[in-house]
Amino acid sequence: MNTVSTIEKLREEVATARLAGKRIGCVPTMGALHAGHLSLVEAAKAESDFVVMTIFVNPTQFGPNEDLTKYPRPLEEDLAKCRDAGVDLVFHPDVEVVYPRANATFVEVPGLSDVLEGTFRSGHFRGVTTVVLKLLNMVLPDVVFLGRKDFQQQLLIRQMVADLDVPVEVRTCPTVREEDGLALSSRNVFLSRAERETALAISRSLEQIRRLVEGEAVSPVAAGSELKRLLMETDGLLLNYATIVDAATLEEVSESTSPTVDLVALVAARIGSTRLIDNIPLCNALKK
Ligand code: PAF
Repeated sequence: MNTVSTIEKLREEVATARLAGKRIGCVPTMGALHAGHLSLVEAAKAESDFVVMTIFVNPTQFGPNEDLTKYPRPLEEDLAKCRDAGVDLVFHPDVEVVYPRANATFVEVPGLSDVLEGTFRSGHFRGVTTVVLKLLNMVLPDVVFLGRKDFQQQLLIRQMVADLDVPVEVRTCPTVREEDGLALSSRNVFLSRAERETALAISRSLEQIRRLVEGEAVSPVAAGSELKRLLMETDGLLLNYATIVDAATLEEVSESTSPTVDLVALVAARIGSTRLIDNIPLCNALKK
């Protein structure tokens, strides 16, 4: 496995692989790798012949009061995990490589980026879509692998790729969870033992709601209210949002939502100083 930190070196390595007829898979990350990231590598290996992981903590997607400086950066451990997982090439650029000058151009996906995370993290998605397009232009992969845990993020990236005719296929891979249900996140390391216990309310409530909707015990609208209630009543958890939405448009479910649309339940909450997000797809009764 090679590690490169300049765009020239990256392009050289990828061009050599492509010349050898290899299909290029890309897994963009901010490092602090966990089994969720490694499952993306696994998916990339199954579908491509040369796997590039990017490790870059992107400053433009952090707000002024967010955790950019304290975001974990265990590079040596990350590289060892990449090696063990069978990554072929790691691209780990400095900020000056990705942003050599103040960007005048940004990519925005209005609509999808204005709701949910967008209302709590102003400018976040502009930073995400901009850096993802830059990384795709640097790596030039055939296929890119994203995690479903960042549900809104993968939807925005799909929209950007379609709207701008970016020549890449997008794959979204399932959320990986601890045995007790906690969704893996690089931010879980910030949770104390007691906070981690509180955080479990998120995945447990989502699972409870999934059973209610899929068992047709309650309507999706009632399930959305129940999800909010469950989490608002959890001590130590400050709810940002808990909602059931159309999985394609992010529109909140209502009595007039067609029973054939795919739904997803989404949650964001703060536990102490750590902000966590999670979601669960809801299999529509009519589509079973
Ligand atoms: O999901 C992440 O880790 C980041 O938002 C991404 C896609 C690597 C862009 O910085």
